[in-house]
Amino acid sequence: MIKVLGICGSPRKGNSHYLLEKSLSAASRIAPDEVSTELYPIKGKKYAPCISCFKCGDQRGECVIQDDFQELRDKWLGADAVIYSVPVYHMGIPAQLKAFLDRLGNSCFGRYAELFPGESKLPRTLKVIASIAQGAHLFSGQEHTITDLINHALMMGCVPVTGDMWEAYIGAGAWTHNEIDRNALEKKEEDGSLSTRVALRGAESIGIRTVELAMILRAGGIAHSARFRKDPVYTPFLRRIQE
Ligand SMILES: Cc1cc2nc3c(=O)[nH]c(=O)nc-3n(C[C@H](O)[C@H](O)[C@H](O)COP(=O)(O)O)c2cc1C
Repeated sequence: MIKVLGICGSPRKGNSHYLLEKSLSAASRIAPDEVSTELYPIKGKKYAPCISCFKCGDQRGECVIQDDFQELRDKWLGADAVIYSVPVYHMGIPAQLKAFLDRLGNSCFGRYAELFPGESKLPRTLKVIASIAQGAHLFSGQEHTITDLINHALMMGCVPVTGDMWEAYIGAGAWTHNEIDRNALEKKEEDGSLSTRVALRGAESIGIRTVELAMILRAGGIAHSARFRKDPVYTPFLRRIQE
């Protein structure tokens, strides 16, 4: 089973949620018996910012702050693919999600420390990561936001993926034509807005390509596991695909 986790990075059930639902339903349509999807909203969740204590480095990656971080971290670690759908905030990712990503990245050094004695290193977890970003305005941070998430994917040893040309160069992007309503994109779709139709196509193609790449990675990992098993950098990936 390919597990796709959709993380909605908005503090409300709105436009990010809407695009993510479209993306996940396209993802599960490809092979319903082989794909499971979960939409995880951060709405109502609390992720305190990292306090730089570095205790996670010597307690097997456990963060000293106990909040909603642990739940999402476990889902993230267990997923074969993650699709982020986020609103643009200040031309970047919302602080809540950034707080989660900061803690996830740093705590993974401690979590996987036993694989790399004497080194500070992260494994190649080879999850597929895709991004959708939408904001109120045009040219107002969608690409920067997606680039931040691509950088996160690379840092975590994951594989960033996008959808198809021409609607998803680096991810799917949308704008609400200056409206701040939570259902602005849904209304735009009903009005036949071209940019919203393009965004929806982008979100759907992202869902499809995410699953396809996860399938290819899994099959490749299984076919070559004897070779990859020798290198601890692949241990978490091999454990995941053999579960
Ligand atoms: C704190 C804050 C900062 C924002 N910054 C931007 C921005 O830089 N660019 C933009 O296009 N929209 C910006 N917006 C608007 C939201 O991205 C937009 O309303 C989006 O549709 C909200 O998505 P949601 O419905 O999923 O919450 C901002 C909104 C908030 C609350």
